[in-house]
Amino acid sequence: MPDHPVITIDGPAASGKSSVARLVARQRGAIYVNTGNMYRAMTWAVLDAGIDPADADAVRAAAATLQIQSPVVEGQTQVQVNGRTLTDADLNSDPVNRAVSHVARVPEVRDLLVAAQRALAAIGPLVMEGRDIGSVVFPDSPLKFYIDASEEVRAARRSAQGHTDQVAERDRLDSTRKTSPLVVPQGAIVIDNSHLTLEQAVQQVLSKLPN
Ligand code: DC
Repeated sequence: MPDHPVITIDGPAASGKSSVARLVARQRGAIYVNTGNMYRAMTWAVLDAGIDPADADAVRAAAATLQIQSPVVEGQTQVQVNGRTLTDADLNSDPVNRAVSHVARVPEVRDLLVAAQRALAAIGPLVMEGRDIGSVVFPDSPLKFYIDASEEVRAARRSAQGHTDQVAERDRLDSTRKTSPLVVPQGAIVIDNSHLTLEQAVQQVLSKLPN
């Protein structure tokens, strides 16, 4: 049986892509998948185990033993590590913000999570957001978007959420890593979200989709 269609939404940290993706998924009756949360869950587990996130060998060894699952609850995927459901507070803590780019650049971590992401397309239509969804996870999707916003706007959004997240440093690591760096995927429609309301950004995406 063919997999279901996947709308891919990539972009840098705090560009607003999660809010846009969640609402587009709701409008289209699709499952919303936040792949950043999968990398964050892996990072949470690495920190919980007392492993140095910059030690790629130790991260690789830990990743191979972890069970990451993504059950669908109320139209969106949750993340579980070894059966424990992680909360938004777990996933967005300052230690996780600081460590996640280190964990996400380990190729074996990416292989595990990309396989899990591809498997979700068997469940139903998806709106999946991340850094490499249109370039690596579903490169053949005809429905690709890249949501950008200026560095100032992104830093302001993050601090308004109460996080001390170094978005510029995280973007530098995410864009320069060897495996699957953040890029504008081939064929993606680019939306600059710096001066749009959430509703306007959602409308821009919806207006490009076939009925
Ligand atoms: O979307 P986010 O800011 O919650 O993502 C957290 C980190 O996870 C981000 O700094 C890079 C990594 N990530 C990735 O490498 N690939 C993805 N598809 C999604 C996130």
